[in-house]
Amino acid sequence: MTRLGALPPAVDAPLPAAVGRAWVDRLAAVECPAFTARRARRGERAGAPHDPIVWVEAAGANVRDADGNVYVDLTSGFGAAAVGHGHPAVVAALRAQSGRLVHALGDLHPSDVKITLLERLVALAPFAGGRAMLALGGADAVEAALKTAALATGRPGLVAFDGGYHGLSHGPLAVCGYGEAFRAPFAEQLNPHVRFCPWPAADAPLDGALAPVERALAEAPVGAVVVEPIQGRGGVRVPPAGFLRGLHALTRRHGALLVVDEIFTGLGRCGRRWQLLADASEGSGGSEGEDVEGAPVDLLCVGKALGGGLPVSACVGRPEVMAAWGDPRGAALHTGTFFGDPLGAAAALATLDVLEGERLATRAAEVGARFRERLARVCGDRVVQVRGAGLLAGVELASTGRTLRLVRRLLERGYLTLPAGADARVLQLVPPLTIDEPLLDAFTDALGEALDEEPARAEAGA
Ligand SMILES: Cc1ncc(COP(=O)(O)O)c(C=O)c1O
Repeated sequence: MTRLGALPPAVDAPLPAAVGRAWVDRLAAVECPAFTARRARRGERAGAPHDPIVWVEAAGANVRDADGNVYVDLTSGFGAAAVGHGHPAVVAALRAQSGRLVHALGDLHPSDVKITLLERLVALAPFAGGRAMLALGGADAVEAALKTAALATGRPGLVAFDGGYHGLSHGPLAVCGYGEAFRAPFAEQLNPHVRFCPWPAADAPLDGALAPVERALAEAPVGAVVVEPIQGRGGVRVPPAGFLRGLHALTRRHGALLVVDEIFTGLGRCGRRWQLLADASEGSGGSEGEDVEGAPVDLLCVGKALGGGLPVSACVGRPEVMAAWGDPRGAALHTGTFFGDPLGAAAALATLDVLEGERLATRAAEVGARFRERLARVCGDRVVQVRGAGLLAGVELASTGRTLRLVRRLLERGYLTLPAGADARVLQLVPPLTIDEPLLDAFTDALGEALDEEPARAEAGA
């Protein structure tokens, strides 16, 4: 078999083939029915089969499935494989760490690598003297931020945004504006003090974008506003310039905190380390340990890319905010058996080295700008809009059915992509930041061909 990493796609459609189908049958017999049923529904809506492929191997930008097909991954595994799948430096760090120490005693008797990772994260934050809490998934990091905000302000209220996605455990779910269907069955178990504000379009006037947030802050005691610098899962939706700075000023005025969820956008994905600094002067926040004057953030959530494929996340907060956790001799109010585990910490340290050593934020900015420009040229008026920042790109289509069919057609051509947005009308393109540019060019051509196959009829909702 050929070596994975930067191979062009090699797929025998239809998918999955015999081996993959057998795995999918086994899956359907044991998996929570939520997932299998969802696929069937997607298939119906798209008028196309929606059975998954089964991954057995991945490296760099490539994935191989159980039938031996090779794909180019434009999802980075939900954004986690930003340095590529199985980056050799991450794998080497895992090997070395697993030969030394696999598990330690968390917050009681921590490992050396956990301490090193905390130091590193605090140094990377765009404010001085921060303190960090490690966790596993993104939702855990958001949960830590929400608890911190409640402690620091004494207020249970939260402001979040329509279309925002912050994870699905109970704390984050309460601020998840991604879709009412996610919250509704659990509504009575969720924080009832959450106000959702509209998410502004990129070209919306800033005053109008901020006005609903200002009203929400004035009407009830709010502990924190929770925001993504760009809504990722919500459909790659970019707010107007100055939005986060405006939110920060409002929160300051009303005694609330600003929680910035950079779980998707951070660590280079959008062409800079922190997308929250997009409005700062050129070069701000570029170097380690730099305190960016007035960075619009009090609590910063990071995850996905951080672990290089392993579940590692963190909440980093300004020192005066994190002080709310109180006397370190008191009880550990927030901890978890595996938070800051040695393997995850070693993978995260290696990943941060790769991101810096290979200058992947800068690469994402440069390659991403060309990618989006090419996408816009090839898609033309067959799509509603191409948008994004760095290598977080979204192509909005006219209907859900169109997007779902396109995702499937691209899969059959050997390209893994995801639908995004509450109504799944956006094709989300999130390749590894290390991807070879010719693979992106070939993908753009394949997208153009796949769009050609789509009947040109107007089909809102079809
Ligand atoms: C911005 C953002 N926050 C939080 C999360 C939740 O992360 P996880 O799925 O690791 O809990 C996601 C996941 O997509 C995300 O995009």
